Amino acid sequence: MDARGTKAHFLLGPMSLGQIRDSVVGFFYRKLLKPIFFLQDPEKVHDRMVTVGRFLAFSPLTRGLSGLLFGYQHPELEQEITGLRFKNPIGLAAGFDKEAFLPGILPSVGFAFEEAGSITAQPFEGNERPWMWRLPEHQALRINYGLKNSGAVNIHKRLAGQKFGLILGISIAKTNSERTSHLAAGIEDYLASYRMFQDVGDYFTINISCPNTCEAKPIFAEPENLDQLLQKMFILPKHKPVFIKLSPDLPEPQLLGILKLGQKYPVDGFVCTNLTKINSFGHQGKGGFSGKAVAPLADAMIAKVYRFYGGKKIIIGCGGVFSAQDAYKKIRLGASLIQLITGMIFQGPQLVGEINRGLAVLLRRDGFNHIGQAIGADSRV
Ligand SMILES: Cc1cc2nc3c(=O)[nH]c(=O)nc-3n(C[C@H](O)[C@H](O)[C@H](O)COP(=O)(O)O)c2cc1C
Repeated sequence: MDARGTKAHFLLGPMSLGQIRDSVVGFFYRKLLKPIFFLQDPEKVHDRMVTVGRFLAFSPLTRGLSGLLFGYQHPELEQEITGLRFKNPIGLAAGFDKEAFLPGILPSVGFAFEEAGSITAQPFEGNERPWMWRLPEHQALRINYGLKNSGAVNIHKRLAGQKFGLILGISIAKTNSERTSHLAAGIEDYLASYRMFQDVGDYFTINISCPNTCEAKPIFAEPENLDQLLQKMFILPKHKPVFIKLSPDLPEPQLLGILKLGQKYPVDGFVCTNLTKINSFGHQGKGGFSGKAVAPLADAMIAKVYRFYGGKKIIIGCGGVFSAQDAYKKIRLGASLIQLITGMIFQGPQLVGEINRGLAVLLRRDGFNHIGQAIGADSRV
């Protein structure tokens, strides 16, 4: 390499080239694709994105090209958690890939893990439409799918025996139907999916916090009901980690009741949090809010859960992550891993690489040489 080339390489460095790539992709997404997407029905755009993802997952060439556009790895971001090796802390939250069509392509986008689902024992065609609204002025979405999915049997059949290049979480929820509104029927419904997915996926998340079901309130967020569910669940042999996904709207005593169950049973951790019902925007209609509506509530809950267990349970932070700073805040409050959806819809798929790259910079800025040192730094007393 000549002197000029060396200098240019030194100035740009491989990291800066990656930053340039992310800026170009992000600019292209925000200025060209997003304005077109945001003129169209959000559900249709979502379905089309999943179709594109399935197509890209199909061949090594398209997977490789996607990897060139999005990937970023750094040893400081790798973690071993509950016996699973996470290449970086960023995962796709439950609800984007309801049918688990995307584990083949998500590693090329830079995700280390995804939570597929939520999957329910019986198929459900979804609540009455519409299911999704964009609230760009609030950097949020309003969601009312109500656990639409084709059911545990169908999804399991398709995934069984496959191997994936990322950590696959299976989010299971109770079928959204009055038939499962009674405690015993509800428990049996969860257990049917739990048993079925023993041989598929790397961890479970028990979703007890969907705000859009036929019940006025999620019944398994009541500690006495959850107690009975966990009792039955943990009688069965435990082959993989189990997380519980919390609502950001839980009143303090209810949250404490749930956290105490985390001491009674071998729960590995908590996903903080699901959508919020708190309508701080004055938006009319059904559904729960994502994005920036959730962020402060999720952050507060991460800190509470971290302090309750003294950092001994794993926290997956979720809600309103639009940047490396947002993710880093959750990590410093106590999250070991981060999930997102809304940030990617508003910022573009390069966000995953941007966050990972930005996290490496923020860790070094604060004198950490591994992400593990930053987890809970702001919640320790
Ligand atoms: C389109 C959509 C569908 C969702 N469906 C589910 C779901 O089925 N199960 C679940 O646990 N959470 C679901 N969620 C909630 C997300 O997993 C996440 O907790 C919430 O959106 C906050 O993260 P975000 O601000 O990064 O989107 C859904 C969210 C969105 C946007």
